[in-house]
Amino acid sequence: MSRKVIIAGNWKMNKTASQGKALVEELKAKVAGISNADIVVCPPFTTLCAVVEAAKGSNVKVGSQNIHWAESGAFTGEISGAMLKEAGVEYVIIGHSERRQYFGETDETVNKRLKATLAAGLKPIVCIGETLEEREGNKTETVLDTQIKGGFAGIAASDMKNMIIAYEPVWAIGTGKTATPAMAQETHAYIRKVVASLYDIETAEAVRIQYGGSMKADNSAELTAQKDIDGGLIGGASLKADDFTNLIKNAIA
Ligand code: PGA
Repeated sequence: MSRKVIIAGNWKMNKTASQGKALVEELKAKVAGISNADIVVCPPFTTLCAVVEAAKGSNVKVGSQNIHWAESGAFTGEISGAMLKEAGVEYVIIGHSERRQYFGETDETVNKRLKATLAAGLKPIVCIGETLEEREGNKTETVLDTQIKGGFAGIAASDMKNMIIAYEPVWAIGTGKTATPAMAQETHAYIRKVVASLYDIETAEAVRIQYGGSMKADNSAELTAQKDIDGGLIGGASLKADDFTNLIKNAIA
């Protein structure tokens, strides 16, 4: 089974609309012609429209960093699927560890946001991963089990087949510490095994699992060479066109 590599840049709370536009103008020229990877950038809300406009007609796709489950209403600070869809967004990052850590995101809210994403016809990137304490306490598998069972509860196999899961060991995010390719592969294989147990092998083989956490141009080739690593969710290294382009090119080399 061959899964298409997907590299997504999570800009987090970086880049105003004008800065985002400039970055995408530069990026799209550098990645033009790359067809064997899906390339996505996920700017902050106020930067989305400028980036969608700048990316038009290119192979750079746009994602948001969150979505609310309600269609509309009294949810100050949130954004709906219809709003994202009309803005031209295609992907949505759900349950990033920073959302879980700082904004009370749980597997239950991840599940609600995931259902809203699918209902809006958007493509989810669902983040899971253990903390350093959990890894050192030998709890990685239990944590992932819980996150997968809770996060994907009630999701049909037909939707699961198109799922993008981002495995991000929390201790590797923004720290410069990357899981070794072997360590990441082992965990990715485990995630696929859990999906197979909840669905079936065919579904598990179709799911794309990104690695995230200090992925850079100099380690992207080694990581994506692993059997179960299908791309990356990139923070720091997605903020400069050159860094991100080199990372993408190495990942598909
Ligand atoms: P990083 O962030 O690449 O800066 O480690 C990854 C992420 O949080 O998605």
